[in-house]
Amino acid sequence: MGRDPPAPTPERILPDVPVAKIPASIGIIMDGNGRWARRLGWERIKGHTAGIDSVREAAQECARLGVKELTLYAFSVENWKRPRPEVEYLMTLLRRFAEDERPEIDANAIRFTTIGRVSELPEATLSALRETERLSAANRGMVLRLALNYGGRAELADAARALAADAAAGRIDPSKIDEAALAARLYDPAMRDVDLMIRTAGEMRVSNFLLWQISYAEIHVTPVLWPEFRKPHLHAAIRDFAKRERRFGGLVGA
Ligand code: FPP
Repeated sequence: MGRDPPAPTPERILPDVPVAKIPASIGIIMDGNGRWARRLGWERIKGHTAGIDSVREAAQECARLGVKELTLYAFSVENWKRPRPEVEYLMTLLRRFAEDERPEIDANAIRFTTIGRVSELPEATLSALRETERLSAANRGMVLRLALNYGGRAELADAARALAADAAAGRIDPSKIDEAALAARLYDPAMRDVDLMIRTAGEMRVSNFLLWQISYAEIHVTPVLWPEFRKPHLHAAIRDFAKRERRFGGLVGA
């Protein structure tokens, strides 16, 4: 059946931003959980738990603003190198998030999905994620997409492998391979290009996140640590984005 979202109200939330300047697709590199916890003298993992509140608030507010897709970098292919207890904690947290947020996801008519080599996640985490995906699949509101066991290079390598297999099987003529053919083999071929990429905790890096989809993204870096990222910080990022002049390689007014 699926649910329709309540009408977004960007003009009420951000009256100073023209509605046409609200980014359709936002990607966030959620950084600084460990630093936030250490600053308080706590174990790093407490920062990940606190980060869930920021995830919930960002998703709710993006939905209210009429953002079409929000993609969050929750676990990279490199994150397996962290101490095992931290990895296990993150996997448990993801499972709990997938289970506990179902009412919230539904109330906001959000369609929940994932990208990455997700089949390599622990079974309990994977099945909770799959179930939330299934339950929300028909919702017609914002897409909330978690990048899990995700790497931008891994995604491009996986797409290249799929292309090579199709070429070897005679399903595609190698001379016909173009950008659309590659884009059709990414983890979520329906994913829009990212308009605004936000990174918290101050680092000026892309860190292997969505390499294909951020080709023309505007980047907003904030020193705020992810567990402290709240609505006003999201609003500031969108105001910053709305002021940018996007040319996509062309000339404005030409
Ligand atoms: C970066 O902080 C954050 C991560 C590696 C994981 C992101 C996870 C969350 C926000 C919580 C779980 C999210 C969901 C959707 C369940 P860091 O540990 O690298 O921080 P640091 O750079 O200060 O050490």
